[in-house]
Amino acid sequence: PDHTMDARIAAAREKLGTDVVLLGHHYQRDEVIRFADFTGDSYKLSKVAAETDAKYMLFCGVHFMAETADVLGRPWQQVILPDLNAGCSMADMAEIGQVEDCWDSLERAGVTDEASGGMIPLTYMNSAAAIKAFCGERGGLVCTSSNARGAFEWAFARAGKILFLPDQHLGRNTAFAMGIPLTEMVVWDPYQINGGVSPDRLKAAKVILWKGHCSVHQRFLPEHVDRVRREEPGMQVIVHPECRWEVCQKADDVGSTEHIIQAIERALEGSSFAVGTEIHLVNRLAKRFAPLGKRVITLDDSGCLCTTMYRISPQHLAWALENLVEGRVVNRIKVDDDVKQWARVALNRMLEIRI
Ligand code: 13P
Ligand code: SF4
Repeated sequence: PDHTMDARIAAAREKLGTDVVLLGHHYQRDEVIRFADFTGDSYKLSKVAAETDAKYMLFCGVHFMAETADVLGRPWQQVILPDLNAGCSMADMAEIGQVEDCWDSLERAGVTDEASGGMIPLTYMNSAAAIKAFCGERGGLVCTSSNARGAFEWAFARAGKILFLPDQHLGRNTAFAMGIPLTEMVVWDPYQINGGVSPDRLKAAKVILWKGHCSVHQRFLPEHVDRVRREEPGMQVIVHPECRWEVCQKADDVGSTEHIIQAIERALEGSSFAVGTEIHLVNRLAKRFAPLGKRVITLDDSGCLCTTMYRISPQHLAWALENLVEGRVVNRIKVDDDVKQWARVALNRMLEIRI
């Protein structure tokens, strides 16, 4: 560790004053998140991005979050991602060309027809801006893990079917919690002809799930829940909805990062939790709540790390801020205007949903 970083970051921040706002996702490491003006889940941070007046938004998160901030920000605002390698493996599992091919195939098979109830594309926030724009242009919207149910209800009020991108687990968990049986969901594999699903099954399905997942959350297994039940009776299991359906079914509670934090905040002294989400957040919760008599452990004893979020280091943060002090904007994330226009439509539909 370079111990000069804290002082350099603080000095650059002071020089920039209110020109810059630092947004930090809950999965960021401690050495970075402690400088954030706002911390939150991706829903909360997108709202901050839509409301802040700062000239520069420095996003300590991953690429899709910075793109979203650029879409929701005003034309004179600029968004910076301190390390351009901070992507998201799940977002990379759906490319716009693949999504367009999928939609064309569904159209050809008559699955999107108004006559059969119509279909709405709904994308998780964890996707490229081009996919958000695709959804916006076709009457669809964006959701995060905090408002996925509201977004499903919004879409089902307008169409009989949903194409859900790119996280099959969030899509399956949300639809199942709404009472849709697994038999009415199919998984579209972009690497197979016609998604690897027969036209009959596509027509019968209510939800078509894109075959994407989070490599971090997919590591939590039902066996981990079984072990906690066996070894830690009385401990509550709380997991993120990017976890597999089998894990969510066994858990006591399922919700976004913000939901997980609030559930532990509200719990009584003496409560204990095994948490199925990224390890930096879990460790921070463990440290914060131990003095209050609440125990927090990770559901998987090896701890699941989001390696791309971890790429944002204090060194990157200092570098980006010091360049700003010198009047240089480095690592700007800028979404093309034509993409921005429709992505904003899809995001605004999400922001209008009450959660
Ligand atoms: P949240 O919306 O819960 O912050 O989740 C974002 C994310 O990337 C989780 O993997
Ligand atoms: Fe993407 Fe998973 Fe990391 Fe979230 S935890 S940013 S979904 S790779």
